[in-house]
Parts: sequence; structure tokens; C-alpha cells
Amino acid sequence: MPIDVAAVRQRYPVLDRELDGHRLVYLDSAASSLTPESVLAAMNHYYRWSRSNVHRGVYPLAEEATDLYEGARTDLARFLDADPRGVVFTKNATEACNLIAYGYVRAHLGPDDVLLSTVMEHHANLVPFTEAARSVGAQIRHIPLTEDGQLDLEVAAELLADGRVTFAAFVHVSNVLGTINDVARLTTMVKDANDRAVVHVDGAQAAPHLPVSVRDLGVDSYAITGHKLLAPTGIGALVARPELLERMEPFLTGGDMIRDVTLEGATWNDVPHRFEAGTPMIAEAAGLSAAITELEALGMDAVREHERTFTAALLDALGTVPGVRVHGPKDVDLRGSAVSFVLDGIHPHDVGAMLGSRGVCVRVGHHCTKPLMRCLEVAATTRASAYVYNDVDDLEPLVEGIEAAAAFFAR
Ligand SMILES: Cc1ncc(COP(=O)(O)O)c(C=O)c1O
Repeated sequence: MPIDVAAVRQRYPVLDRELDGHRLVYLDSAASSLTPESVLAAMNHYYRWSRSNVHRGVYPLAEEATDLYEGARTDLARFLDADPRGVVFTKNATEACNLIAYGYVRAHLGPDDVLLSTVMEHHANLVPFTEAARSVGAQIRHIPLTEDGQLDLEVAAELLADGRVTFAAFVHVSNVLGTINDVARLTTMVKDANDRAVVHVDGAQAAPHLPVSVRDLGVDSYAITGHKLLAPTGIGALVARPELLERMEPFLTGGDMIRDVTLEGATWNDVPHRFEAGTPMIAEAAGLSAAITELEALGMDAVREHERTFTAALLDALGTVPGVRVHGPKDVDLRGSAVSFVLDGIHPHDVGAMLGSRGVCVRVGHHCTKPLMRCLEVAATTRASAYVYNDVDDLEPLVEGIEAAAAFFAR
């Protein structure tokens, strides 16, 4: 069923806000989504009703808190079609990428290994691996872009040809170009070239917007972050094959992640708990479950279709503004809803400030993708990014704001 945006909007209290007399037009969901009432209620319920710590309590409150926390694990596994034993909660996607960089790459790779990455990575899925490669003396290779902002898979095949790539980390959907990478195909290419290779994917911009089956993608691990998919800040996950987690070293040590401890050392708990040291994010997990319920009620196919239609209209609208140049694929089947553009001769910060003064929230800057900015030969872009609460009535204020920036700053 198509998304009823008017009904969806009523679920987001912040959308009642006006900014300096302007209706709030939120086009910054690639940075962080808004929070629906149901997610606020779920967190509130935990704090008001079931507040206690998880796992070892044998009284009702502690059992309820444990059920909320472990229930979120099952919910996320269902949402991403993955094994719940492979779901490790982290504080965000950045921590999930670091977990595999420390737990696997630094523990298992050496000078004979090669890592494969791309030039379109967010720093979260790049720096942990450049640092890990440097630390173990491994080489790192990067897949370049085609003219229209897709990964150049012909070059990828060349980079894989010598069979030396034993670890690959790449993004599912680019936060700047919007490009949807063919994860299943690239994963098959990596594994055909070396059947021992491990594939890690950054799904921070994909899981909120597309139906995702980690199983069908065939990857070994997949990072997500809650605050981009209607959930609170402070929770994310590494969703991995349990067999991979079994081979990984703990990243953080301490309480909860041990099986036994002596004064001299410790043995480790089963996966995934081995990677969750200390008191976890319980309210945030309750909020994540509510967010997943919200998205499942809409249906991820409907979410994708809504954004595909919106993005087509957004690209058309931007096409009417003289001097606007959009980065990334123009074909909406190849891209998600994050759309980056530059306005000739005007700094993105000026565009963003003009839009902000009219209630239109967009992001400006390098979007934590400095190597990609260098490839695009720009210092920064303006990015408009949509979600389930955006509709074509958001386009007029966006276009008018860009035109106002062009008129004002060109003087
Ligand atoms: C593609 C991508 N990966 C990773 C991240 C990092 O997410 P977090 O800051 O929640 O760790 C982001 C955030 O913008 C992103 O867009």
C-alpha cells in the first residue's frame, strides 16, 4: 500500500514546530531521522515502568528489561533477515565498523593480505580499516567511480584478480551520491577471487530505506545505526555471521562479556554477548524495537517506492534551477533518496543557511567523505535527503530557498 504521508506526519511531534514562521521541512534524514511518538513512548515506558538492569536480575523488573533488550535483538534480526546470534549491539555504525576492524582485521590479517575498499566510503567505514591495514602492514586498494557515480566493477575485477584480497569493506548506499551498490554481485566477485575473504558492508544508509536481507546479500557482516531508522541515538549494530563472530577477538572487555574470570585472566562469553561489555543501551533497544514496528507497519517495499517517487520529483525540481549540478546517478532505480548538489559559484554553507532561515533543513559540508569530495573535485556539497514523512509539498520551499540563495549571494 502506498504511504499515507499525512497520516505518517501526525506521528512525528516535531513536525508541528514552526521555524521563524515557516513550516518545518525536514530534508536531513540521511544525517538523522526524526523520532515518532511510538519510539518516545517505548523508551518512556521502560524508564517509568521496567527500569532496572538486564540479564542477571531474577525479579520481574529485571526480567522485563531483559526481554526488552533481547527482544530488540530478535526484532532487528527479523528486520534484516539475519541470525539473532549474529546481532551485536553497538552505540552506532561507527562502533560496529571499529568492532570488525579491531576484532577481525587487526587480529587475523598481516603483511601478505590486501584490503579492498572504495572511494565513496563514509569515514566510519574507511578510517578503521586504513588504520587497521597500517597497523598490520597490509595493503589497501580502492575501487574508483564511473562517470555517473557508481562503483567501477571492471576495475574492481582487476583489483581482485591476483586473489590477494582477504577483506573487503564497502558501503551499501552512499550517503553523498545516493548510489545503491550491487552488494550481492560485489560480494560474489570478492569471494570468487578468494574463498577465504570476509566481506563487511556499511548499511547505515540502506537499512532505513530499502528491504534488506543480509542472508541474500551473502555478506559476512553488516553495520547499521539506529538514529537513521527512526530509533534513538546511542544504538547501532554489527549484524554478522555467528561463525565470523566466533573467530573474532573481543574489542572491549569487562563485565557481562566473560564466562569466567580469575585474577590472572578471563574466558569469553558466547557470541554475541562476548562483544557487549558492560551495561547496554536498554531504553534505546526498546526504542529500536518500536522503530522497527513502525517501519514494518509501513512495509519496506512501500518505503522504497515512496522514496523512489519522491527522489524522481526532487531530481526534476532541482533540474529546473539554473546552476544546480547533482552528483550521483540520475536513474532513480540506481539510487536512494540522499541527493547532493552544488550551486554554481555559491558556497554550500550559504545555500544551507538560506534554506535554514526558511525552515528547510538540509546538510552541507563534506559529509564525512573527504576522499570522495576530492574525487568529485568539490570541497563540500548541499544534501537534501528524504524519508517517510516527506512529500512533494516539501519541494517548493526547497527550490524557492535555493533560488533565493542564488539571487542573494550572486550579488
Ligand atoms: C554511510 C554511512 N556510514 C556510516 C555512518 C556513521 O553513522 P554513525 O555516526 O551513526 O556511526 C554514516 C552517518 O552519516 C553514514 O552515512
